[in-house]
Amino acid sequence: SSTDRVSSGTPRPFSFSFNTSDYRILLMDQDQGRLYLGSREYLVALDMHNVNKEPLIIHWPASAKRKGECQMTGKGKQVGSHEPWNRTHLYTCGTGAYQPICTFINRGWRAEDYLFRLVPGYVDSGKGKCSYDPKQENVAVLINSNLYAGVHIDFMSTDAALFRTMGGRTAIRTEQYDSRWLNEPVFIQIQQIPDSAEKNDDKLYFFFREKSLDSSGGASPTVLARVGRVCLNDEGGQKSLVNRWTTFLKARLICSVIGEDGVETRFDELRDVFIQPTQDERNPMVYALFTTAGSVFKGSAVCVYSMADIRNVFNGPFAHKHGHNYQWTEYTGKIPYPRPGTCPGGTFTPGIRSSKNFSDEAVNFIRAHPLMFHPVYPIHRRPLVVRTGVDYRFTALVVDQVDAVDGRYEVLFLGTDRGTVQKVIVLPKDPTSFEELTLEEVEVFRVPPVKTMKISSKRQQLYVSSDAGLTQVSLHRCGVYGRACSDCCLARDPYCAWDGESCSAFTPSTKRRSRRQDVKHGDPLRQCRGFNAKGKTVQFGVEGSSTFLECQPRSPQATVKWLFQREGKRKVVRERGNQLFS
Ligand SMILES: *[C@@H]1O[C@H](CO)[C@@H](O)[C@H](O)[C@H]1NC(C)=O
Ligand SMILES: *[C@@H]1O[C@H](CO)[C@@H](O)[C@H](O)[C@H]1NC(C)=O
Repeated sequence: SSTDRVSSGTPRPFSFSFNTSDYRILLMDQDQGRLYLGSREYLVALDMHNVNKEPLIIHWPASAKRKGECQMTGKGKQVGSHEPWNRTHLYTCGTGAYQPICTFINRGWRAEDYLFRLVPGYVDSGKGKCSYDPKQENVAVLINSNLYAGVHIDFMSTDAALFRTMGGRTAIRTEQYDSRWLNEPVFIQIQQIPDSAEKNDDKLYFFFREKSLDSSGGASPTVLARVGRVCLNDEGGQKSLVNRWTTFLKARLICSVIGEDGVETRFDELRDVFIQPTQDERNPMVYALFTTAGSVFKGSAVCVYSMADIRNVFNGPFAHKHGHNYQWTEYTGKIPYPRPGTCPGGTFTPGIRSSKNFSDEAVNFIRAHPLMFHPVYPIHRRPLVVRTGVDYRFTALVVDQVDAVDGRYEVLFLGTDRGTVQKVIVLPKDPTSFEELTLEEVEVFRVPPVKTMKISSKRQQLYVSSDAGLTQVSLHRCGVYGRACSDCCLARDPYCAWDGESCSAFTPSTKRRSRRQDVKHGDPLRQCRGFNAKGKTVQFGVEGSSTFLECQPRSPQATVKWLFQREGKRKVVRERGNQLFS
Protein backbone atom coordinates (compact mmCIF):
# COMPACT_ATOMS: atom_id res chain seq x y z
CA SER A 1 0.00 0.00 0.00
CA SER A 2 1.27 3.42 -0.83
CA THR A 3 1.80 5.93 1.91
CA ASP A 4 3.88 8.36 -0.08
CA ARG A 5 1.13 10.87 -0.40
CA VAL A 6 0.97 12.90 2.76
CA SER A 7 -1.66 15.57 2.95
CA SER A 8 -1.45 18.46 5.33
CA GLY A 9 -3.65 21.46 5.96
CA THR A 10 -4.79 20.56 9.46
CA PRO A 11 -5.54 23.45 11.82
CA ARG A 12 -2.83 25.15 13.80
CA PRO A 13 -2.12 23.12 16.95
CA PHE A 14 -3.03 24.33 20.39
CA SER A 15 0.14 25.20 22.29
CA PHE A 16 1.30 27.61 24.96
CA SER A 17 3.15 30.81 24.60
CA PHE A 18 4.97 29.69 27.77
CA ASN A 19 8.17 27.84 27.18
CA THR A 20 6.85 24.31 27.66
CA SER A 21 6.69 21.09 25.69
CA ASP A 22 5.83 17.41 26.07
CA TYR A 23 2.09 17.66 25.68
CA ARG A 24 0.15 14.59 26.75
CA ILE A 25 -3.57 14.02 26.58
CA LEU A 26 -4.46 12.85 30.07
CA LEU A 27 -8.17 12.34 29.90
CA MET A 28 -11.10 12.76 27.56
CA ASP A 29 -14.15 13.97 29.44
CA GLN A 30 -17.02 13.06 27.11
CA ASP A 31 -19.72 14.28 29.51
CA GLN A 32 -18.38 17.78 29.78
CA GLY A 33 -16.93 17.86 26.27
CA ARG A 34 -13.50 18.66 27.58
CA LEU A 35 -10.07 17.32 26.96
CA TYR A 36 -7.46 17.48 29.71
CA LEU A 37 -3.93 18.08 28.62
CA GLY A 38 -0.73 17.99 30.67
CA SER A 39 2.48 19.79 29.82
CA ARG A 40 5.13 19.86 32.51
CA GLU A 41 3.86 22.26 35.20
CA TYR A 42 0.61 23.02 33.38
CA LEU A 43 -2.77 21.39 33.29
CA VAL A 44 -5.16 22.55 30.61
CA ALA A 45 -8.85 21.96 29.99
CA LEU A 46 -9.75 22.31 26.31
CA ASP A 47 -13.06 22.44 24.50
CA MET A 48 -13.44 19.22 22.47
CA HIS A 49 -15.32 21.05 19.74
CA ASN A 50 -12.50 23.48 19.19
CA VAL A 51 -9.27 22.94 21.08
CA ASN A 52 -8.10 26.46 20.28
CA LYS A 53 -11.06 28.05 22.08
CA GLU A 54 -10.56 29.64 25.53
CA PRO A 55 -8.42 27.08 27.36
CA LEU A 56 -8.63 26.87 31.16
CA ILE A 57 -5.13 26.64 32.55
CA ILE A 58 -3.80 25.60 35.95
CA HIS A 59 -0.20 26.35 36.72
CA TRP A 60 0.91 23.74 39.24
CA PRO A 61 4.58 24.31 39.92
CA ALA A 62 6.67 22.37 42.36
CA SER A 63 7.26 24.37 45.53
CA ALA A 64 10.09 26.88 45.48
CA LYS A 65 12.33 24.77 47.70
CA ARG A 66 11.71 21.65 45.68
CA LYS A 67 12.28 23.58 42.52
CA GLY A 68 15.79 24.28 43.73
CA GLU A 69 16.33 20.57 44.14
CA CYS A 70 14.83 19.90 40.79
CA GLN A 71 17.18 22.34 39.13
CA MET A 72 20.02 20.52 40.83
CA THR A 73 18.93 17.29 39.27
CA GLY A 74 17.97 19.02 36.09
CA LYS A 75 14.47 17.65 36.05
CA GLY A 76 11.12 19.38 35.98
CA LYS A 77 7.75 18.27 37.13
CA GLN A 78 5.33 16.38 34.98
CA VAL A 79 1.68 15.86 35.62
CA GLY A 80 1.13 12.12 35.74
CA SER A 81 -2.25 10.59 36.36
CA HIS A 82 -5.50 12.46 36.10
CA GLU A 83 -8.66 10.55 36.88
CA PRO A 84 -12.31 11.44 37.44
CA TRP A 85 -13.14 11.18 41.15
CA ASN A 86 -16.79 12.16 41.18
CA ARG A 87 -19.18 14.32 39.15
CA THR A 88 -17.33 17.51 39.98
CA HIS A 89 -13.77 16.61 40.90
CA LEU A 90 -10.71 15.08 39.29
CA TYR A 91 -7.87 13.43 41.17
CA THR A 92 -4.52 14.50 39.79
CA CYS A 93 -0.98 13.48 40.58
CA GLY A 94 2.31 14.99 39.52
CA THR A 95 5.94 14.01 39.94
CA GLY A 96 6.49 17.19 42.00
CA ALA A 97 10.20 17.42 41.20
CA TYR A 98 11.01 13.99 42.64
CA GLN A 99 8.35 14.10 45.32
CA PRO A 100 5.06 12.94 43.84
CA ILE A 101 1.99 14.74 45.14
CA CYS A 102 -1.70 14.47 44.38
CA THR A 103 -4.63 16.80 44.71
CA PHE A 104 -8.24 17.39 43.72
CA ILE A 105 -9.27 19.65 40.89
CA ASN A 106 -12.74 21.14 40.77
CA ARG A 107 -14.11 21.04 37.21
CA GLY A 108 -17.67 22.09 38.10
CA TRP A 109 -20.89 20.30 37.22
CA ARG A 110 -21.03 21.33 33.59
CA ALA A 111 -18.60 22.77 31.07
CA GLU A 112 -20.63 26.01 31.13
CA ASP A 113 -19.59 26.51 34.75
CA TYR A 114 -16.23 27.33 33.22
CA LEU A 115 -14.50 26.05 36.32
CA PHE A 116 -11.10 24.39 36.53
CA ARG A 117 -9.08 24.96 39.68
CA LEU A 118 -7.06 23.22 42.37
CA VAL A 119 -8.85 22.58 45.66
CA PRO A 120 -6.97 25.06 47.87
CA GLY A 121 -4.75 23.63 50.60
CA TYR A 122 -5.36 20.00 49.70
CA VAL A 123 -2.28 17.88 49.03
CA ASP A 124 -1.87 14.08 49.24
CA SER A 125 1.28 12.03 49.09
CA GLY A 126 1.72 10.65 45.61
CA LYS A 127 3.66 7.61 46.73
CA GLY A 128 2.52 4.56 44.79
CA LYS A 129 0.32 6.74 42.60
CA CYS A 130 2.80 8.51 40.41
CA SER A 131 6.41 7.98 39.33
CA TYR A 132 9.29 10.00 40.79
CA ASP A 133 10.97 10.57 37.51
CA PRO A 134 8.96 12.70 35.06
CA LYS A 135 10.49 10.72 32.20
CA GLN A 136 8.93 7.48 33.47
CA GLU A 137 5.53 6.77 32.04
CA ASN A 138 2.83 5.69 34.45
CA VAL A 139 -0.63 4.28 34.08
CA ALA A 140 -3.41 4.64 36.63
CA VAL A 141 -7.11 3.98 36.96
CA LEU A 142 -9.58 4.79 39.74
CA ILE A 143 -12.04 2.00 40.49
CA ASN A 144 -14.45 2.48 43.41
CA SER A 145 -12.17 5.14 44.91
CA ASN A 146 -9.16 2.78 44.80
CA LEU A 147 -6.30 3.99 42.66
CA TYR A 148 -4.52 1.23 40.74
CA ALA A 149 -1.25 2.48 39.30
CA GLY A 150 1.76 1.05 37.52
CA VAL A 151 4.61 3.32 38.64
CA HIS A 152 8.28 3.61 39.56
CA ILE A 153 8.27 4.63 43.18
CA ASP A 154 11.87 5.41 44.04
CA PHE A 155 14.29 8.15 43.15
CA MET A 156 16.46 5.92 40.97
CA SER A 157 13.49 4.23 39.26
CA THR A 158 14.71 0.78 40.25
CA ASP A 159 11.55 -0.12 42.14
CA ALA A 160 8.65 -0.49 39.75
CA ALA A 161 5.35 -1.83 40.96
CA LEU A 162 1.67 -2.21 40.40
CA PHE A 163 0.06 -0.49 43.38
CA ARG A 164 -3.36 -0.20 44.90
CA THR A 165 -3.80 2.80 47.17
CA MET A 166 -6.66 4.94 48.55
CA GLY A 167 -10.24 3.90 49.09
CA GLY A 168 -11.48 1.21 51.45
CA ARG A 169 -9.21 -1.67 50.47
CA THR A 170 -5.78 -2.54 51.89
CA ALA A 171 -2.87 -0.91 50.12
CA ILE A 172 -0.99 -3.61 48.22
CA ARG A 173 1.69 -3.89 45.58
CA THR A 174 3.76 -6.36 43.58
CA GLU A 175 6.62 -8.14 45.30
CA GLN A 176 9.58 -5.77 45.68
CA TYR A 177 12.86 -6.32 43.79
CA ASP A 178 11.73 -9.69 42.43
CA SER A 179 12.63 -9.76 38.74
CA ARG A 180 10.39 -12.78 38.18
CA TRP A 181 7.41 -10.50 38.81
CA LEU A 182 8.53 -7.34 37.08
CA ASN A 183 11.89 -6.66 35.45
CA GLU A 184 12.33 -2.97 34.58
CA PRO A 185 8.80 -2.68 33.27
CA VAL A 186 7.30 0.12 31.20
CA PHE A 187 3.56 0.27 31.82
CA ILE A 188 1.40 0.99 28.80
CA GLN A 189 -2.27 0.44 29.62
CA ILE A 190 -4.48 -0.62 32.51
CA GLN A 191 -8.19 -1.47 32.50
CA GLN A 192 -10.77 -3.39 34.46
CA ILE A 193 -12.28 -6.21 32.38
CA PRO A 194 -14.86 -8.43 34.06
CA ASP A 195 -14.36 -12.18 33.69
CA SER A 196 -17.85 -13.36 34.57
CA ALA A 197 -21.19 -12.12 35.86
CA GLU A 198 -19.85 -12.69 39.39
CA LYS A 199 -18.47 -9.42 40.80
CA ASN A 200 -15.87 -11.24 42.90
CA ASP A 201 -14.21 -12.49 39.70
CA ASP A 202 -13.53 -8.93 38.49
CA LYS A 203 -9.98 -8.44 37.32
CA LEU A 204 -7.69 -5.65 36.35
CA TYR A 205 -5.71 -6.28 33.17
CA PHE A 206 -2.56 -4.32 32.45
CA PHE A 207 -0.21 -4.23 29.50
CA PHE A 208 3.50 -3.53 29.72
CA ARG A 209 6.89 -4.41 28.33
CA GLU A 210 9.86 -5.50 30.40
CA LYS A 211 13.42 -6.70 30.14
CA SER A 212 13.75 -10.37 29.40
CA LEU A 213 15.26 -12.45 32.20
CA ASP A 214 17.31 -14.52 29.77
CA SER A 215 18.43 -11.72 27.48
CA SER A 216 22.03 -12.96 27.74
CA GLY A 217 21.01 -16.08 25.83
CA GLY A 218 21.55 -14.46 22.44
CA ALA A 219 18.61 -15.83 20.48
CA SER A 220 15.94 -14.69 22.92
CA PRO A 221 14.67 -11.11 22.71
CA THR A 222 15.87 -8.47 25.16
CA VAL A 223 12.41 -6.95 25.56
CA LEU A 224 9.14 -8.80 26.00
CA ALA A 225 5.56 -7.62 25.68
CA ARG A 226 3.26 -8.66 28.49
CA VAL A 227 -0.32 -8.83 29.60
CA GLY A 228 -0.78 -9.12 33.36
CA ARG A 229 -3.74 -9.33 35.69
CA VAL A 230 -4.79 -9.18 39.33
CA CYS A 231 -8.10 -9.62 41.15
CA LEU A 232 -9.72 -6.38 42.30
CA ASN A 233 -10.65 -7.98 45.63
CA ASP A 234 -7.12 -9.21 46.40
CA GLU A 235 -6.28 -8.35 50.04
CA GLY A 236 -2.77 -9.81 50.05
CA GLY A 237 -1.56 -12.89 51.93
CA GLN A 238 -1.77 -13.81 55.60
CA LYS A 239 1.67 -15.29 56.32
CA SER A 240 3.57 -14.60 53.14
CA LEU A 241 2.89 -12.01 50.45
CA VAL A 242 1.50 -9.73 53.15
CA ASN A 243 0.33 -6.50 51.46
CA ARG A 244 1.38 -8.04 48.14
CA TRP A 245 -0.85 -9.27 45.32
CA THR A 246 -1.65 -12.97 45.71
CA THR A 247 -3.32 -13.14 42.29
CA PHE A 248 -0.65 -11.51 40.10
CA LEU A 249 -0.05 -13.39 36.84
CA LYS A 250 1.50 -12.39 33.53
CA ALA A 251 1.88 -13.85 30.05
CA ARG A 252 3.83 -12.97 26.93
CA LEU A 253 2.18 -11.30 23.95
CA ILE A 254 3.54 -12.48 20.59
CA CYS A 255 3.43 -10.35 17.47
CA SER A 256 5.57 -11.57 14.59
CA VAL A 257 5.47 -12.18 10.88
CA ILE A 258 7.20 -14.69 8.61
CA GLY A 259 8.54 -13.01 5.50
CA GLU A 260 8.60 -14.48 2.00
CA ASP A 261 12.21 -15.49 2.66
CA GLY A 262 11.05 -17.54 5.65
CA VAL A 263 12.71 -15.20 8.14
CA GLU A 264 10.65 -14.27 11.16
CA THR A 265 10.43 -10.62 12.15
CA ARG A 266 9.48 -10.21 15.79
CA PHE A 267 7.84 -7.13 17.20
CA ASP A 268 8.47 -7.15 20.94
CA GLU A 269 8.58 -3.51 21.94
CA LEU A 270 4.99 -2.85 23.05
CA ARG A 271 4.18 0.85 22.48
CA ASP A 272 0.46 1.36 22.82
CA VAL A 273 -2.71 -0.58 23.52
CA PHE A 274 -6.25 0.32 22.51
CA ILE A 275 -9.09 -1.65 24.09
CA GLN A 276 -12.10 -1.63 21.79
CA PRO A 277 -15.38 -2.40 23.57
CA THR A 278 -17.82 -4.86 22.01
CA GLN A 279 -21.45 -5.75 22.85
CA ASP A 280 -20.09 -8.08 25.52
CA GLU A 281 -18.20 -6.11 28.19
CA ARG A 282 -16.24 -9.25 29.10
CA ASN A 283 -14.81 -9.56 25.61
CA PRO A 284 -13.38 -6.34 24.26
CA MET A 285 -10.82 -6.56 21.45
CA VAL A 286 -7.25 -5.72 22.39
CA TYR A 287 -5.34 -3.81 19.69
CA ALA A 288 -1.63 -3.62 20.48
CA LEU A 289 1.01 -1.57 18.70
CA PHE A 290 4.56 -2.91 18.62
CA THR A 291 7.87 -1.92 17.12
CA THR A 292 10.95 -4.01 16.58
CA ALA A 293 13.39 -3.79 19.48
CA GLY A 294 16.70 -2.09 18.80
CA SER A 295 17.48 0.87 16.63
CA VAL A 296 18.91 -0.55 13.40
CA PHE A 297 15.82 -1.89 11.72
CA LYS A 298 12.65 0.19 11.78
CA GLY A 299 9.57 -1.97 11.87
CA SER A 300 6.09 -1.61 13.37
CA ALA A 301 3.07 -3.85 13.60
CA VAL A 302 -0.44 -3.95 15.04
CA CYS A 303 -1.68 -7.23 16.48
CA VAL A 304 -5.16 -7.95 17.79
CA TYR A 305 -5.87 -10.28 20.69
CA SER A 306 -9.12 -11.74 21.90
CA MET A 307 -9.91 -11.94 25.62
CA ALA A 308 -10.80 -15.62 25.09
CA ASP A 309 -7.23 -16.34 23.96
CA ILE A 310 -5.79 -14.29 26.83
CA ARG A 311 -7.94 -16.15 29.39
CA ASN A 312 -7.00 -19.52 27.88
CA VAL A 313 -3.35 -18.76 28.48
CA PHE A 314 -4.02 -17.73 32.09
CA ASN A 315 -5.98 -20.97 32.56
CA GLY A 316 -3.15 -23.01 31.03
CA PRO A 317 0.18 -24.26 32.41
CA PHE A 318 2.54 -22.13 34.48
CA ALA A 319 6.15 -21.48 33.50
CA HIS A 320 8.87 -22.91 35.69
CA LYS A 321 12.57 -22.21 35.97
CA HIS A 322 15.11 -24.17 37.99
CA GLY A 323 17.98 -22.01 39.17
CA HIS A 324 19.44 -19.23 37.10
CA ASN A 325 20.93 -20.94 34.08
CA TYR A 326 17.97 -23.05 33.12
CA GLN A 327 15.39 -22.37 30.46
CA TRP A 328 11.76 -21.74 31.22
CA THR A 329 9.86 -25.00 31.08
CA GLU A 330 6.26 -26.01 31.54
CA TYR A 331 5.41 -26.67 35.18
CA THR A 332 4.05 -30.20 35.30
CA GLY A 333 3.83 -30.77 39.06
CA LYS A 334 0.77 -30.54 41.28
CA ILE A 335 -1.04 -27.20 41.15
CA PRO A 336 -2.40 -26.14 44.55
CA TYR A 337 -6.03 -25.37 45.32
CA PRO A 338 -7.42 -22.83 44.77
CA ARG A 339 -5.73 -22.51 41.41
CA PRO A 340 -3.30 -19.57 41.66
CA GLY A 341 -4.80 -16.52 39.96
CA THR A 342 -8.44 -17.25 40.79
CA CYS A 343 -10.20 -14.58 42.82
CA PRO A 344 -11.43 -15.18 46.38
CA GLY A 345 -15.20 -15.54 46.67
CA GLY A 346 -15.48 -16.04 42.91
CA THR A 347 -17.07 -18.68 40.73
CA PHE A 348 -14.33 -21.25 41.46
CA THR A 349 -13.66 -20.43 45.11
CA PRO A 350 -17.08 -20.02 46.75
CA GLY A 351 -15.92 -21.00 50.26
CA ILE A 352 -12.91 -18.69 50.40
CA ARG A 353 -13.92 -15.18 51.32
CA SER A 354 -10.58 -13.41 51.26
CA SER A 355 -7.13 -13.86 49.71
CA LYS A 356 -5.92 -14.07 53.32
CA ASN A 357 -7.67 -17.44 53.44
CA PHE A 358 -5.69 -18.84 50.47
CA SER A 359 -3.61 -21.89 51.45
CA ASP A 360 0.11 -21.35 52.08
CA GLU A 361 0.89 -23.63 49.12
CA ALA A 362 -1.25 -21.51 46.81
CA VAL A 363 0.40 -18.28 47.94
CA ASN A 364 3.93 -19.66 47.80
CA PHE A 365 3.26 -21.15 44.39
CA ILE A 366 2.17 -17.88 42.80
CA ARG A 367 5.09 -16.07 44.37
CA ALA A 368 7.51 -18.32 42.47
CA HIS A 369 5.37 -18.81 39.34
CA PRO A 370 3.84 -15.52 38.24
CA LEU A 371 4.49 -16.31 34.55
CA MET A 372 2.32 -18.44 32.28
CA PHE A 373 4.07 -20.98 30.06
CA HIS A 374 2.19 -20.34 26.82
CA PRO A 375 2.31 -16.97 25.10
CA VAL A 376 -0.79 -15.25 23.71
CA TYR A 377 -0.92 -15.29 19.91
CA PRO A 378 -2.80 -12.67 17.92
CA ILE A 379 -5.99 -13.44 16.02
CA HIS A 380 -5.09 -15.31 12.78
CA ARG A 381 -1.61 -15.71 14.30
CA ARG A 382 -0.31 -12.72 12.40
CA PRO A 383 -0.35 -8.93 12.58
CA LEU A 384 -3.23 -6.91 11.20
CA VAL A 385 -0.89 -4.18 9.99
CA VAL A 386 2.85 -4.47 9.30
CA ARG A 387 5.38 -1.83 8.29
CA THR A 388 8.90 -2.96 7.52
CA GLY A 389 11.47 -1.40 5.25
CA VAL A 390 10.11 2.09 5.87
CA ASP A 391 11.93 5.01 7.47
CA TYR A 392 9.38 5.68 10.21
CA ARG A 393 7.80 3.94 13.19
CA PHE A 394 4.33 3.97 14.63
CA THR A 395 4.05 5.59 18.06
CA ALA A 396 0.36 5.61 18.98
CA LEU A 397 -2.86 3.82 18.07
CA VAL A 398 -6.61 4.35 18.34
CA VAL A 399 -9.42 2.45 16.64
CA ASP A 400 -12.91 3.42 15.51
CA GLN A 401 -15.86 1.36 14.31
CA VAL A 402 -17.63 2.75 11.29
CA ASP A 403 -20.92 1.70 9.75
CA ALA A 404 -20.69 1.93 5.97
CA VAL A 405 -23.14 1.02 3.17
CA ASP A 406 -21.88 -2.56 2.97
CA GLY A 407 -21.16 -3.26 6.62
CA ARG A 408 -19.12 -2.31 9.66
CA TYR A 409 -15.43 -1.49 9.41
CA GLU A 410 -12.64 -1.07 11.92
CA VAL A 411 -10.59 2.01 11.13
CA LEU A 412 -7.13 2.31 12.68
CA PHE A 413 -5.48 5.67 13.26
CA LEU A 414 -1.74 5.23 13.64
CA GLY A 415 0.51 8.06 14.82
CA THR A 416 4.08 8.03 13.53
CA ASP A 417 7.44 9.34 14.70
CA ARG A 418 7.45 11.72 11.72
CA GLY A 419 4.46 13.67 13.01
CA THR A 420 1.82 12.11 10.78
CA VAL A 421 -1.28 10.01 11.34
CA GLN A 422 -2.16 7.15 8.98
CA LYS A 423 -5.75 6.06 8.55
CA VAL A 424 -5.85 2.35 7.81
CA ILE A 425 -8.65 -0.15 7.23
CA VAL A 426 -8.35 -3.89 7.14
CA LEU A 427 -10.66 -5.81 4.83
CA PRO A 428 -11.31 -9.52 5.15
CA LYS A 429 -10.30 -11.32 1.93
CA ASP A 430 -11.36 -14.82 2.90
CA PRO A 431 -11.93 -16.43 6.31
CA THR A 432 -8.20 -16.58 7.12
CA SER A 433 -6.61 -13.58 5.47
CA PHE A 434 -7.11 -9.88 5.08
CA GLU A 435 -5.98 -6.93 3.07
CA GLU A 436 -4.71 -3.72 4.64
CA LEU A 437 -5.43 -0.37 3.01
CA THR A 438 -3.95 2.99 3.91
CA LEU A 439 -6.70 5.50 3.18
CA GLU A 440 -4.71 8.63 3.85
CA GLU A 441 -1.78 10.01 5.78
CA VAL A 442 -2.20 13.39 7.40
CA GLU A 443 0.69 15.52 8.48
CA VAL A 444 -0.31 16.71 11.93
CA PHE A 445 3.02 18.05 13.14
CA ARG A 446 5.94 19.22 11.02
CA VAL A 447 8.67 17.39 12.86
CA PRO A 448 8.17 15.72 16.22
CA PRO A 449 6.70 12.29 16.85
CA VAL A 450 3.07 11.82 17.73
CA LYS A 451 2.94 11.17 21.46
CA THR A 452 -0.63 10.50 22.54
CA MET A 453 -3.94 10.15 20.71
CA LYS A 454 -7.58 10.01 21.79
CA ILE A 455 -10.62 9.43 19.62
CA SER A 456 -14.19 10.62 20.06
CA SER A 457 -16.60 8.78 17.77
CA LYS A 458 -19.41 10.88 19.19
CA ARG A 459 -17.77 14.11 18.06
CA GLN A 460 -16.07 12.50 15.04
CA GLN A 461 -12.73 13.94 16.11
CA LEU A 462 -9.24 12.65 16.63
CA TYR A 463 -6.98 14.46 19.11
CA VAL A 464 -3.25 14.18 18.62
CA SER A 465 -0.43 15.47 20.84
CA SER A 466 3.31 15.83 20.45
CA ASP A 467 6.04 18.00 21.93
CA ALA A 468 4.75 20.83 19.75
CA GLY A 469 1.18 20.90 21.05
CA LEU A 470 -2.22 19.35 20.44
CA THR A 471 -4.27 19.19 17.26
CA GLN A 472 -7.72 17.94 16.41
CA VAL A 473 -8.42 16.22 13.11
CA SER A 474 -11.82 15.28 11.79
CA LEU A 475 -12.29 11.53 11.36
CA HIS A 476 -13.73 12.18 7.92
CA ARG A 477 -11.90 14.50 5.56
CA CYS A 478 -13.83 13.48 2.47
CA GLY A 479 -13.03 16.69 0.60
CA VAL A 480 -9.41 15.60 0.17
CA TYR A 481 -10.50 12.82 -2.20
CA GLY A 482 -11.87 15.32 -4.72
CA ARG A 483 -15.35 16.01 -6.05
CA ALA A 484 -15.77 13.23 -8.58
CA CYS A 485 -17.80 10.12 -7.86
CA SER A 486 -14.98 7.88 -9.09
CA ASP A 487 -12.37 9.56 -6.85
CA CYS A 488 -14.66 9.21 -3.85
CA CYS A 489 -15.37 5.59 -4.66
CA LEU A 490 -11.72 4.72 -5.28
CA ALA A 491 -10.79 6.20 -1.91
CA ARG A 492 -12.66 3.32 -0.21
CA ASP A 493 -13.00 5.39 2.95
CA PRO A 494 -15.94 4.06 4.98
CA TYR A 495 -16.51 7.54 6.44
CA CYS A 496 -17.12 9.02 2.99
CA ALA A 497 -19.66 8.56 0.21
CA TRP A 498 -20.49 10.40 -3.00
CA ASP A 499 -23.83 12.08 -2.38
CA GLY A 500 -24.62 13.09 -5.97
CA GLU A 501 -22.73 16.37 -5.64
CA SER A 502 -19.49 15.76 -3.79
CA CYS A 503 -17.56 13.36 -1.63
CA SER A 504 -19.01 13.93 1.84
CA ALA A 505 -19.35 12.35 5.27
CA PHE A 506 -21.47 9.22 5.07
CA THR A 507 -24.21 8.74 7.59
CA PRO A 508 -26.63 5.83 7.44
CA SER A 509 -29.40 8.44 7.00
CA THR A 510 -27.88 9.84 3.78
CA LYS A 511 -30.42 9.48 0.98
CA ARG A 512 -30.05 5.97 -0.34
CA ARG A 513 -30.81 6.76 -3.98
CA SER A 514 -27.85 9.00 -4.65
CA ARG A 515 -25.12 7.87 -2.26
CA ARG A 516 -22.29 5.90 -3.77
CA GLN A 517 -19.69 4.00 -1.79
CA ASP A 518 -17.74 0.78 -2.33
CA VAL A 519 -15.33 0.07 0.50
CA LYS A 520 -14.92 -3.61 -0.34
CA HIS A 521 -14.04 -3.36 -4.01
CA GLY A 522 -13.56 0.33 -4.77
CA ASP A 523 -15.14 -0.20 -8.17
CA PRO A 524 -16.11 3.15 -9.71
CA LEU A 525 -17.34 1.55 -12.93
CA ARG A 526 -20.14 -0.17 -11.06
CA GLN A 527 -20.88 2.65 -8.63
CA CYS A 528 -20.49 5.77 -10.69
CA ARG A 529 -21.96 4.93 -14.10
CA GLY A 530 -23.52 8.11 -15.43
CA PHE A 531 -22.26 10.18 -12.51
CA ASN A 532 -18.77 10.91 -13.64
CA ALA A 533 -19.11 14.05 -15.71
CA LYS A 534 -18.76 16.44 -12.77
CA GLY A 535 -15.25 17.25 -11.66
CA LYS A 536 -13.60 14.74 -13.97
CA THR A 537 -10.35 15.67 -15.63
CA VAL A 538 -10.37 14.85 -19.32
CA GLN A 539 -7.16 15.26 -21.31
CA PHE A 540 -6.92 15.08 -25.08
CA GLY A 541 -4.02 14.22 -27.33
CA VAL A 542 -3.88 14.34 -31.11
CA GLU A 543 -3.24 11.13 -32.97
CA GLY A 544 0.16 10.97 -34.59
CA SER A 545 1.69 13.65 -32.40
CA SER A 546 3.51 13.17 -29.12
CA THR A 547 1.77 14.44 -26.01
CA PHE A 548 2.73 14.20 -22.38
CA LEU A 549 -0.20 13.33 -20.18
CA GLU A 550 -0.25 12.97 -16.45
CA CYS A 551 -2.92 12.03 -13.95
CA GLN A 552 -2.30 12.33 -10.21
CA PRO A 553 -4.73 10.23 -8.20
CA ARG A 554 -6.12 11.91 -5.10
CA SER A 555 -6.29 8.84 -2.92
CA PRO A 556 -3.52 6.31 -2.33
CA GLN A 557 -6.10 3.65 -3.26
CA ALA A 558 -6.66 4.99 -6.75
CA THR A 559 -4.77 3.31 -9.56
CA VAL A 560 -4.46 5.00 -12.88
CA LYS A 561 -5.68 3.21 -15.98
CA TRP A 562 -5.35 4.84 -19.38
CA LEU A 563 -7.94 4.18 -22.04
CA PHE A 564 -7.20 4.97 -25.67
CA GLN A 565 -10.15 5.62 -27.91
CA ARG A 566 -9.98 4.89 -31.65
CA GLU A 567 -12.88 4.44 -34.04
CA GLY A 568 -15.27 4.20 -31.14
CA LYS A 569 -13.28 1.41 -29.52
CA ARG A 570 -11.42 1.76 -26.19
CA LYS A 571 -8.17 0.04 -25.46
CA VAL A 572 -5.25 0.38 -23.11
CA VAL A 573 -1.95 1.65 -24.46
CA ARG A 574 1.56 1.66 -23.00
CA GLU A 575 1.61 3.18 -19.56
CA ARG A 576 4.05 3.61 -16.73
CA GLY A 577 2.78 4.58 -13.29
CA ASN A 578 0.74 7.71 -13.62
CA GLN A 579 2.04 8.57 -17.07
CA LEU A 580 0.87 7.57 -20.49
CA PHE A 581 3.16 7.12 -23.45
CA SER A 582 2.03 6.82 -26.98
C1 LIG B 1 -16.32 15.28 45.01
O1 LIG B 1 -15.18 15.03 45.81
C2 LIG B 1 -14.63 16.20 46.42
C3 LIG B 1 -13.35 15.79 47.11
O2 LIG B 1 -13.56 14.72 47.99
C4 LIG B 1 -15.66 16.81 47.38
O3 LIG B 1 -15.13 17.97 47.98
C5 LIG B 1 -16.92 17.15 46.58
O4 LIG B 1 -17.92 17.64 47.45
C6 LIG B 1 -17.42 15.92 45.84
N1 LIG B 1 -18.51 16.31 44.96
C7 LIG B 1 -19.63 15.59 44.82
C8 LIG B 1 -20.64 16.11 43.88
O5 LIG B 1 -19.82 14.55 45.43
C1 LIG C 1 -10.14 -16.32 56.85
O1 LIG C 1 -9.29 -15.27 57.22
C2 LIG C 1 -9.78 -14.46 58.26
C3 LIG C 1 -8.87 -13.26 58.39
O2 LIG C 1 -7.54 -13.63 58.36
C4 LIG C 1 -9.85 -15.30 59.54
O3 LIG C 1 -10.34 -14.53 60.58
C5 LIG C 1 -10.78 -16.47 59.26
O4 LIG C 1 -10.78 -17.34 60.36
C6 LIG C 1 -10.33 -17.25 58.02
N1 LIG C 1 -11.33 -18.23 57.68
C7 LIG C 1 -11.02 -19.47 57.33
C8 LIG C 1 -12.16 -20.36 56.97
O5 LIG C 1 -9.89 -19.87 57.30
